[in-house]
Amino acid sequence: MKIKDKEFSIYIDKNTIEQRVAELGKKISREYEGKNPLFIAVLNGSFMFAGDLMKNISIPVEISFIKLSSYTKTHSSGKVKELVGLDENIFGRNLIIIEDIVDTGLTIHHLLEEFRELGPKSIEVATLLHKPEATVKQLQLKYVGFEIPEKFVVGYGLDYDGYGRNLNDLYSLAN
Ligand code: IMP
Repeated sequence: MKIKDKEFSIYIDKNTIEQRVAELGKKISREYEGKNPLFIAVLNGSFMFAGDLMKNISIPVEISFIKLSSYTKTHSSGKVKELVGLDENIFGRNLIIIEDIVDTGLTIHHLLEEFRELGPKSIEVATLLHKPEATVKQLQLKYVGFEIPEKFVVGYGLDYDGYGRNLNDLYSLAN
C-alpha cells in the first residue's frame, strides 16, 4: 500500500483492533460504573479510536474533543503544542484522555499537567497504541490497546503527512 512516497504493509488488522477496542470499552465500563466519566479525545488522530471505543461503553458518560494547536510554545520539557477547544468544566470530574498513540510521551505528559491544574477528581489515559521503547517520560497509561516497537504506523485515524487516516487497518512502514 503506497501512501504518498512511502510503502506501507499491514500491521494490525481491523478485526484485531475491533476486538481489542471492545475489550477496553468493557473494562472502562466496569471500572467507571457510577463515576460519570468525561472522556476528552485528542484530535485529529484519535477520532476513529474514540468513536469505536464509545460504541463499546455501556454506562452514562460524556465526551468532548480538544486539539493541539499547530504552533508550539516553549516549555520546560521542550517544545509543546498548546491545548485548544476545551469548553467543559472539568473540576471534580473523572477524566479519561483518549489518544491515538503515545510515542515519546511528551504530548500526553504536557496535557496531563495542564489538566491537573484544572482540578479534576481523577485522570487516566486510554491510548490505542504505545511505543514503550520511545517513551522518555514516566507515565501511567491505564488503558493501552497495543504496545508496539518503534515503528511508524498509519491508518485507523493516524496519518502520514495528512494521509491514511481513513484506513480501517493499521499499517507500518515497509522496510
Ligand atoms: P509524543 O509526544 O512523542 O508521544 O507523540 C505523540 C503524537 O505524535 C501522536 O499523537 C501522533 O500525532 C504522533 N505520532 C507518533 N508516532 C506516530 C506514528 O507512528 N504514526 C503517526 N503519528 C505518530
